[in-house]
Amino acid sequence: MYAENLSPVALCCVPYRVSGECVNDPLRLNIAQGFPILKFNRLFSIAPMMDWSDHHCRYFWRLLTKQALLYTEMVTTGALIHGDRERFLHFNPEEHPVALQLGGSDPAELARCARWAEEWGYDEVNLNCGCPSDRVQSGMFGACLMAQPELVADCVKAMVDACNIPVTVKHRIGIDEMESYGELTGFIEPIAAAGCSVFIVHARKAWLQGLSPKQNREIPPLNYPWVYRLKQDFPQLTIVINGGIHGIEECRGHLQYVDGVMIGREAYQNPWMLAEVDSGLFGMDKMVDSRDDVIAGLIPYVEGQLDRGVHLNHITRHILGLYQGVPGARKFRRHLSENAYKKEAGIEVLIGAWEQVKNHDARSASYGASV
Ligand SMILES: Cc1cc2nc3c(=O)[nH]c(=O)nc-3n(C[C@H](O)[C@H](O)[C@H](O)COP(=O)(O)O)c2cc1C
Repeated sequence: MYAENLSPVALCCVPYRVSGECVNDPLRLNIAQGFPILKFNRLFSIAPMMDWSDHHCRYFWRLLTKQALLYTEMVTTGALIHGDRERFLHFNPEEHPVALQLGGSDPAELARCARWAEEWGYDEVNLNCGCPSDRVQSGMFGACLMAQPELVADCVKAMVDACNIPVTVKHRIGIDEMESYGELTGFIEPIAAAGCSVFIVHARKAWLQGLSPKQNREIPPLNYPWVYRLKQDFPQLTIVINGGIHGIEECRGHLQYVDGVMIGREAYQNPWMLAEVDSGLFGMDKMVDSRDDVIAGLIPYVEGQLDRGVHLNHITRHILGLYQGVPGARKFRRHLSENAYKKEAGIEVLIGAWEQVKNHDARSASYGASV
């Protein structure tokens, strides 16, 4: 019954470990409860990134891949409860499947926000237990929560009880003095028992003192084997690996061991790699054949946003890496950087930048997606 409900996407990916993906997934429960059937899987997702993965950026990514699961930037419970909720929760319908990432540590507040996530139409709500910034630590959320698995379990239980969309957790393999694999499983076990079946694991620990968030994404060494081992030890859980992954071939390698791959910086800095995701990982048709197709698809969106008073630069800042590796890429970037921030900047700025690189893509097909 469940297998029949799986999208062709999931079925076509049998070589990978999708078969185990949803065994304990809340979505499966949703099916039993009459909620919509699974419309996405977690083979490939794009990471939550503050200041980067906003709704304009996600719309742009969606022109490159239909299948990737997209994550919002982290939004704190405080911002949703006391701030401009409409603004923080807004997304374009085209972005589905899209997950809202929350930062917080108060079970009642997180439950409230998880309910809003469902009401707003998000496909998943994720709790951030991996972000190491000072601001986040003083608010008692993010990576410092790894020291408090029972509190995270309480948060997750409150969220699961409050909504019918999957509640997932993104975390590190440890923080500070947490050195052992046993401490990592000690974090996961109570949270899984509380109803979370999807763990997105950034495969490096975080040092909460002495390293900046940026350094915490680069300096602690990656430890992929621990993440693979989690899947072996908890086969009923969906384990998604994250950290330092580039390109489709690397994704395929990880998917031999885990259920899904999440990519952050590479997707942002070299978005054209996303054009290979649907065909290379999901066995589906590509969304676009060239970068020019992406710009052509983006123009109506940009025009619509400009009409609503959105500043051009708020959208085009996310596309600077699109032509990376193609002749004219530098001119494309420079044209946008020098003009899109101007108050009166209109669609002609994007078109002007495009003129610098247009058609080069087809002429330089040999550059390929990985350049
Ligand atoms: C600019 C930036 C902002 C980030 N913001 C968040 C965030 O809001 N929430 C979160 O869980 N992780 C955040 N991260 C971490 C990423 O989600 C991801 O775990 C990390 O970059 C490692 O993946 P990568 O090597 O594929 O980039 C951020 C990363 C970057 C580069």
